[in-house]
Amino acid sequence: MTDTTKPPRRFAEIDPEQCFDMLIGESWVQASSGETFRCFDPYDDEEWGHVPVASADDVAHAVAAARDAFATWSRIPALARSAVLSRWAQLIDENSETLARLQVHENGKTITEMRAVTGSLRQTADYFGHLALGPIGSTIEPFMPNHEAWTVRQPIGVVAAIAPWNNPLGLLSWKLFPALAAGNTIVVKPSEVTPVSTLFLAKLGLEAGLPAGVLNVVTGAGPTGAALVDSPGIDKIAFTGSTSTGAVIAQRAAARFLRTTLELGGKGAQIVFADADLDRATASLVTGITAGTGQACNAGSRLLVHGSVYDEVIDRLRTLIPEVRIGDPLEPTSAIGPLASRPQYEKVTGYLDLAEEEGNELLVGGRRGEQISGVTTGRFVEPTLYATPDSQSRIRREEIFGPVGAVIRFDDEDEAVRIANESPYGLVAGMWTKDVSRAHRAAKRLESGVVWINTWRAFSTNVPFGGVKHSGIGREIGPDALLEYTETKSVWLGLD
Ligand code: NAI
Ligand code: MG
Repeated sequence: MTDTTKPPRRFAEIDPEQCFDMLIGESWVQASSGETFRCFDPYDDEEWGHVPVASADDVAHAVAAARDAFATWSRIPALARSAVLSRWAQLIDENSETLARLQVHENGKTITEMRAVTGSLRQTADYFGHLALGPIGSTIEPFMPNHEAWTVRQPIGVVAAIAPWNNPLGLLSWKLFPALAAGNTIVVKPSEVTPVSTLFLAKLGLEAGLPAGVLNVVTGAGPTGAALVDSPGIDKIAFTGSTSTGAVIAQRAAARFLRTTLELGGKGAQIVFADADLDRATASLVTGITAGTGQACNAGSRLLVHGSVYDEVIDRLRTLIPEVRIGDPLEPTSAIGPLASRPQYEKVTGYLDLAEEEGNELLVGGRRGEQISGVTTGRFVEPTLYATPDSQSRIRREEIFGPVGAVIRFDDEDEAVRIANESPYGLVAGMWTKDVSRAHRAAKRLESGVVWINTWRAFSTNVPFGGVKHSGIGREIGPDALLEYTETKSVWLGLD
């Protein structure tokens, strides 16, 4: 007899007991220890899948495979590498729904956002495939007589790429495609929260024609990442994640003079000047804290509002924010999903408690879990805003990584810029104004790798992204990204 009381499984296509293999060289393998860990669906609270825990030995094998493959991959014509990336882009397109659903199953990001991510994955593969075909150096007439000089940019070697869980495929693609296009080989360590979507992306890469060893994926948590960082066979580390883990990695890399790109935390300031288009500005303030359920380095989590429009902006947010649809991330109408994991839910709700202890004024939201009407499953937090007049408030200073915003009132341009720059982070910042001169002035003064004027969260694969201060080192995507994966060599010729 079939059990009719149980609802159908949301991911009927995935066997919850499936054992996934990681990719080392030409083989899909289990961990040498046999040890595994489980994935977790944050919406229905169920564990699924069994994923290998790579040991330091497994990591060493993966690095050795990448090292072997480097000899060939770095020397084949760029056109051949570019062709593999083009085919990979095509396969991503054909399998986009599978990739999107796998990631929703892992971290609860909404299917609507994931469809946008898989579209951009394809663009990133294509873009770097094309960029690889461009010039790779320049000719320089040196000051010394009877000499010629030119530069070539050469691949660095074996790249260790360590990815986070909040946008695992998108943020990995910013490392993977430029690294491979430039002729490097790579060992990827996805987050322990989101390993399976990365394994599927790797499988598509092999189908596209990547030679064995060019791409390796080792799964596991922090210790697996640390073993990769400490592996003597790597030449560069590309990391996205927390500022604290980034600092540990930077220290370990410095001891060996390893090249690094680090994309770390953020606490983006969105400045609403008195002359802002308030319809567009308030809509963007909402998505600034709700996109990715606030689990985004590019969140606009500090809302700086000019005194003359403050009351009106808050009134509008009190109407707009409760309209944001909270629900099953698989439903296309859901704008906000659950927090990605138990620890992340604990962390974000801890900040809600702290906000009260600190005495910040709750402006809108503030409920969690079953306090939210209609929510019976999942780890949800309502989009929430606090007024945070005290510059020492931790709600105002720290990266919460959930749908929580700190609202700050200001009176003039200097004050707005000063408050925006008080953060130790400097990843993204933005402003809403119709005054072109002010926009130019403020854009120059904001201590941030990215400045958005009358827009927010605008991304394009050919425009660089990355931070200053505690938000990291280096740039991803755009032409700069290829520079991050190559080393300049100057070649001299003394003429007879
Ligand atoms: P994390 O920075 O510890 O993890 C990121 C990646 O690094 C994961 O793949 C992890 O396995 C790996 N890792 C951890 N320890 C490592 C080590 N010692 N050596 C090498 N690799 C290591 O971030 P976590 O613990 O997942 O999240 C904690 C907080 O970090 C979040 O609550 C959030 O505030 C922040 N975060 C920020 C991100 C951003 O893009 N700004 C992304 C992810 C997390
Ligand atoms: Mg951690």
